[in-house]
Amino acid sequence: MQIDIITVLPELLESPFSHSILKRAKQRELLDIHVYNLRDYTPYKHGQVDDYQFGGGAGMVMMPEPLAIAIEKLQEKIKYDEIIFLTPDGETFNQPIANQLSMKQNLLLICGHYKGIDERIREHFITREISIGDYVLSGGELAAAVLVDAVGRLIPGVLNDETSALSDSFQDNLLAPPVYTRPADFRGWKVPDILLGGNPTLIDEWRHEQSVKRTQERRPDMKAE
Ligand code: ADE
Repeated sequence: MQIDIITVLPELLESPFSHSILKRAKQRELLDIHVYNLRDYTPYKHGQVDDYQFGGGAGMVMMPEPLAIAIEKLQEKIKYDEIIFLTPDGETFNQPIANQLSMKQNLLLICGHYKGIDERIREHFITREISIGDYVLSGGELAAAVLVDAVGRLIPGVLNDETSALSDSFQDNLLAPPVYTRPADFRGWKVPDILLGGNPTLIDEWRHEQSVKRTQERRPDMKAE
């Protein structure tokens, strides 16, 4: 999978993809991430990419030309399955969307700043708009990093144990059960006996019950059964 990202703050995206699982995905050539600086594509002087909004009002808006030029330049090399704009008024990101996107070949992510991007870019280039939650970030970069992380780990071959993504919270509309490691007795706080008993059927049943209980308690909106 290739994920390209257009941003005015490429520095913000240097670190998140250089560690742990995403680093491994890149090393295994399962995921290729390119970050492009929007200012390299602007026809305006001094790297200008934003301007005042028509009609007045506080806050700058990202101009259409730099974005259109950048997107079209990248499209000369690659056909994108989705061109995604990260924005608080997009559809709320969740595990089913991460699963869907993990099956695509090429994604282009557009990070907004200031008051947002000119509406004409949204109408004519963007194929999907995604929010990572009901709060406003200073820009789309951290949202893009969240999306890339959630999607990247689902690409087949990225996680060592292929089944481990299947037992993540949300994959079966349930939160994950509690987990324990050594020591079995820490300060008198004991690991549940069933996990030490070695009976896989009983352990599976216990984990399922715990998942259902946790989901009902913490996320009644998920309607666990
Ligand atoms: N940009 C600013 N806030 C955002 C959010 N909540 N999700 C996605 N992109 C954003």
